[in-house]
Amino acid sequence: MSDNQADIAPANGKLGILLVGLGAVSTTFVAGVEAIKRDISKPIGSLTQMGTIRLGKRTDNNVPRIKDFVPLADLDDIVFGAWDIFEENAFDAAMNAGVLEKDLLNQVSEQLSSLKPMKAVFSQKYVKRLEGKNVKTGKNKMELAEQLIEDIADFKQENGCDRVVMVWAASTEIFLTPGEIHESVESLEKAMYDDHDDIAPSMIYAYAAIKSGVPFANGAPNLTVDIPALTKLAEDEGVPICGKDFKTGQTLMKTILAPGFKSRMLGLDGWYSTNILGNRDGEVLDDPESFKTKEESKLSVLETILQPDIYPDLYKDFSHVVRINYYPPRGDNKEGWDNIDIFGWLGYKMQIKVDFLCRDSILAAPLVLDLALFLDLAKRANMGGLQEWLSFYFKAPQTPDELYPEHDLFIQLKKLKNTLRHMKGEDLITHLGTEYYDED
Ligand SMILES: NC(=O)c1ccc[n+]([C@@H]2O[C@H](COP(=O)([O-])OP(=O)(O)OC[C@H]3O[C@@H](n4cnc5c(N)ncnc54)[C@H](O)[C@@H]3O)[C@@H](O)[C@H]2O)c1
Repeated sequence: MSDNQADIAPANGKLGILLVGLGAVSTTFVAGVEAIKRDISKPIGSLTQMGTIRLGKRTDNNVPRIKDFVPLADLDDIVFGAWDIFEENAFDAAMNAGVLEKDLLNQVSEQLSSLKPMKAVFSQKYVKRLEGKNVKTGKNKMELAEQLIEDIADFKQENGCDRVVMVWAASTEIFLTPGEIHESVESLEKAMYDDHDDIAPSMIYAYAAIKSGVPFANGAPNLTVDIPALTKLAEDEGVPICGKDFKTGQTLMKTILAPGFKSRMLGLDGWYSTNILGNRDGEVLDDPESFKTKEESKLSVLETILQPDIYPDLYKDFSHVVRINYYPPRGDNKEGWDNIDIFGWLGYKMQIKVDFLCRDSILAAPLVLDLALFLDLAKRANMGGLQEWLSFYFKAPQTPDELYPEHDLFIQLKKLKNTLRHMKGEDLITHLGTEYYDED
């Protein structure tokens, strides 16, 4: 045991989880938690609920569950709130999303029907394919932020919550690059009063969350909190933040396979990825400006894992193409194909084909749960600012400017678990040499 144990406040009382966007991912998450609470199902895919953590030597035989090792909020203590541009409650939204079966939804219908979205901060300028009526109006973007701050305070009071976290699970916004107005808290606030175009709705939610002392996770690839102004504000206010873009489906596969190729010094000529999906997310991503945001997020992964500058003989100039095709008949049941052209000994070429018939929201829902619980833990451990140890959950992990993101899923998991050990003053586990992929 080392002596660096952080003071972690206990998870007493209720935890409010505020969801921005009450679509496929959010409703699958809420319905899932309610079903798990009623023992209708198990929390498959959730590290906080099912994962274990080894403490000490392998021979010590000390492998508690993560939720028994660190003080996490209990599922029974969670209350949900949401904003959406559509008025329908979570039950109707879940029926429309078509991810979960009617039978299951009927068993938790009371809880879902009572979750009605608050009016959203939204502008079609940032999500071209959507139009909804459940939208706030205000003099300028700062006034909209103030309305959100009021929503958060009201929600907390009405539901008797001790703590609140916010997760962005709303549609992907158009591609924005960081500019001058995103540089400092002062320039951001001025731009909000000026109603500047480079302030997207997601930034307004994030600002409102941080100002309210509410941790914020960004599940979409939007810029959002990945700007100096908001990371600085989060540090100043001691509020944990993290992003971007839930790592599910095809990118999850990439960050599992690519570290394996590199470990064996196998070369890569190209990786062609294409998807068909037919949910509302697919419809939004059919707009080139929203797709550009997603594409940037998906493309960065291979470059960082394979390090072509360090391994030019293996990875220089490999071709990486990502396509998403909106195809309504598939709904949320995406199909992702990968054609991977690799080469081995003496440059001999080989191919790998992956055909992943996945369910997007089924893969994303447990990530929402884990992020909410870990962010709440971080807040109680006084860990403000960027939470890089949660990179495990993201396609484009947010890092400080001077650091490249870590994409390798196994390094990410090791970092996450070592952070938990560190928080509790336990010895870190380094997995030297052959133990590298042998956690747990
Ligand atoms: N499902 C996955 O595997 C996955 C993976 C990575 C990222 N994501 C991202 O998560 C987000 C949610 O995905 P989904 O499948 O649930 O999409 P969805 O279209 O079903 O739901 C998004 C909801 O957000 C609402 N919305 C849009 N702008 C809003 C705003 N400003 N305020 C409040 N609500 C707003 C929409 O009306 C919609 O109901 C998307 O950005 C998607 O790209 C999903």
